[in-house]
Amino acid sequence: MNAQNKTLATGRVHLVGAGPGPLDLLTLRALHCLQQAEVLIYDRLVDAAVLETVPSDCLRIPAGKASGHHLMPQADINRCMVEHAQQGKRVVRLKGGDPNVFGRAAEEMAALLDAQIPFEVIPGVTAASSAAAAAGFSLTHRELSHSCVFLAGHGANGPLDYDWPALAKPQQTRVFYMGVERLRLIGEKLIQHGLSPSTPAALVYGAQCEQQEVMACRLEDLMAANPGYRSSPGLLVIGEAVQLSPRFSH
Ligand SMILES: C[S@@+](CC[C@H](N)C(=O)[O-])C[C@H]1O[C@@H](n2cnc3c(N)ncnc32)[C@H](O)[C@@H]1O
Repeated sequence: MNAQNKTLATGRVHLVGAGPGPLDLLTLRALHCLQQAEVLIYDRLVDAAVLETVPSDCLRIPAGKASGHHLMPQADINRCMVEHAQQGKRVVRLKGGDPNVFGRAAEEMAALLDAQIPFEVIPGVTAASSAAAAAGFSLTHRELSHSCVFLAGHGANGPLDYDWPALAKPQQTRVFYMGVERLRLIGEKLIQHGLSPSTPAALVYGAQCEQQEVMACRLEDLMAANPGYRSSPGLLVIGEAVQLSPRFSH
């Protein structure tokens, strides 16, 4: 098969951000893609209504459960996308939030590039934006926070290897994805490097979802409460701007 025929026979993959869950937080472009999908490979069921947008004859392939158990290995997901696209299918790879924020989109894009499969990334509302909107604070603020940094609460290779002195400096909003269970460790590291224990902080579980829960208070109080794991995913936010949340308790 020459290159041109190969292109004609090859399908296309859309790496789609599903946002935090509710159907009405999908972008119109994401919805349009889902409505035309022939194969859907989905990470987690953020909302059953989102899955229902695909045609009834679309092949649905679960790639992982919300709890994080029984995940399809990344190499199998890559292979699955490539093989279906090589059969000429329109494939949607659906991910929570935004595919490019702790979503392994880079690995999937690399696999698609390697296999010369055309693809498009459709951004979604990431958990940081959802949590800020849910709790009623801004991630940046002209007086309180000049920058916002997204961090993983657990390292792929063990301990969190961050520039803690830089992260402890004031006037920034630190957003820890997958950080709920490391709250104490993260708080201790920041305080050890000079952050005030009274810095405002929030834990937002299930942001924008039915079971949404917001806790916003001083970092030391949040560490003492240490609510830990819930069935809904949670985001840890630490920074002065959090004090503007109507849910913030002193
Ligand atoms: C593997 S990361 C995926 C992030 C996703 N790509 C995004 O852009 O939001 C999963 C983490 O995102 C956060 N998260 C996802 N959805 C959330 C929600 N609705 N509310 C709070 N945190 C959420 C949690 O910290 C969870 O452990």
